[in-house]
Amino acid sequence: MIKQFNAYKPKCFDDLVFSNPIVKAKLKGYTEGKKQKSILLWGEPGTGKSVTAKIVANDMIKHEDTLFESQPLVINGYSWSEQTRSKIENVWSYSNVVVIDEVDEIKGKQALLTDLIDQYENIGTFIFTTNKKPTYLLARLVDRCDTIKVDALDTENAFRVVRKILDENKIKRTDDSIKFMIDKLSIKSLSWLQVGILVDDILARS
Ligand SMILES: Nc1ncnc2c1ncn2[C@@H]1O[C@H](COP(=O)(O)OP(=O)(O)O)[C@@H](O)[C@H]1O
Ligand SMILES: [Mg+2]
Repeated sequence: MIKQFNAYKPKCFDDLVFSNPIVKAKLKGYTEGKKQKSILLWGEPGTGKSVTAKIVANDMIKHEDTLFESQPLVINGYSWSEQTRSKIENVWSYSNVVVIDEVDEIKGKQALLTDLIDQYENIGTFIFTTNKKPTYLLARLVDRCDTIKVDALDTENAFRVVRKILDENKIKRTDDSIKFMIDKLSIKSLSWLQVGILVDDILARS
């Protein structure tokens, strides 16, 4: 649907954009290999949590002195099964990060996850994402994580993102006309889908 904007999907840590600078500053500690506590990214859908988790996980793996290229194990909470547990237990020989997306979907096994964090705390890190509030999750699980809220883009940052893409495409639009389009949405913050629709709309009409 947002075909053109999809070409701007973030591919590395530098590509990630957040309204709150604290998010990137906190995550940098992990990508630089200085921190290895597990992470819980939470916030509204479409704020970039899943893509952020994968990029941070990739960078954390690069910090390990492994001889081979490895990919982080990415699990979705929807598809939790008995085999998932052994997959996690076997991952540490080739990776030091496990991403569990939509962790709130794992209903009865959050205590097991807590045990896994404790068991492997010196070996690896878990990065969890959820669209729910942390209070929705097992408290013991949340306690073990660096809890980071990811917000939708405020209008100022949304403007910067749109401006940059239009400039790259050599499309001449005044700052005011872009701001007008964003203001017309009458919202304080935008999901990436909303930013994408706006960008594709402008590109299609240019
Ligand atoms: N910094 C960014 N720049 C451009 N697109 C982004 C950025 N962060 C996320 N996106 C895009 O927004 C969409 C939603 O991101 P996603 O990580 O799935 O959000 P969430 O997991 O919070 O629901 C994806 O298509 C993603 O590529
Ligand atoms: Mg997600």
